[in-house]
Amino acid sequence: MGGKFEARKVTAISKINPVTSWIRFDGDIYAQPGQFVMVWLPKIGEKPFSIAELNPLGLLVVDVGPFSHALQALQVGDSLWVKGPLGQGFSITGERLLLVGGGYGSAPLLALAKKARAQNITVDVCLGARSEAGLLLSDAFLELGCQVSYATEDGSLGWHGLVTDIVEQKIQAIAYDLLCACGPTGLLSALSNICKTHRLDNQLSWEAHMRCGMGLCGSCLVSQNIDELLPVGWLACYDGPVFYQKFRD
Ligand SMILES: Cc1cc2nc3c(=O)[nH]c(=O)nc-3n(C[C@H](O)[C@H](O)[C@H](O)COP(=O)(O)OP(=O)(O)OC[C@H]3O[C@@H](n4cnc5c(N)ncnc54)[C@H](O)[C@@H]3O)c2cc1C
Ligand code: FES
Repeated sequence: MGGKFEARKVTAISKINPVTSWIRFDGDIYAQPGQFVMVWLPKIGEKPFSIAELNPLGLLVVDVGPFSHALQALQVGDSLWVKGPLGQGFSITGERLLLVGGGYGSAPLLALAKKARAQNITVDVCLGARSEAGLLLSDAFLELGCQVSYATEDGSLGWHGLVTDIVEQKIQAIAYDLLCACGPTGLLSALSNICKTHRLDNQLSWEAHMRCGMGLCGSCLVSQNIDELLPVGWLACYDGPVFYQKFRD
């Protein structure tokens, strides 16, 4: 796979919460955790989605607008078109990982946790959301043998507050080798600063508006160095979406 769209059939759909579905397709995909696919629905458009499961290909879809709504309306046996894997994913280093997910950011982290656990690496996971219903894939992380901590803004489960609070507490208590995260930009900016303070190597998966997904159209180009987070000229679809920040040899 790579540069052209290929047809895939939906083999299973399950609802995780009222707005989130787990969709499985026929066939595997050979990818690094953190890579993504472009999904094309004729007459509707194409959008990037993180690969949540490789064998078989699985995506986690949150219904927020026209495209994600159309994806969730698919039935078992329906076809869509997938291009990928695309972009640069996570690269596991060290013996102890801390994964931090916000919203559908859990999707690429699940594939990463699965790969790390298969190598007997210790994986701690911090999930954050407004309320308990938004904490996605928690059972799947637990089944892999990860230790999972929660933060909700309304206090419905776990720490009452931001996920960055529990991340700080964990980093102070445990010597992690690497922090990997995916979620909204505000969360990633805060994590980048926390990692800078603690000189913790990190790999953060950044969102961007993508059209081609292959480094051709420039729509995902970083044009301004905001808060010194990402270099100007960086293409989220081609150089990323995962950006590596290294402090240790
Ligand atoms: C690398 C990459 C990986 C992605 N992986 C996933 C994935 O695994 N699962 C997934 O569901 N989406 C993922 N997305 C987002 C996806 O590509 C679409 O942007 C998303 O489905 C919304 O498209 P839409 O047409 O349905 O809604 P749009 O019309 O694009 O958005 C509708 C409204 O919802 C807002 N919105 C967009 N996304 C969210 C959100 N997550 N939470 C709350 N509000 C939102 C928009 O700002 C807008 O106001 C990924 C994006 C990137 C760049
Ligand atoms: S989406 Fe076209 S260059 Fe990144």
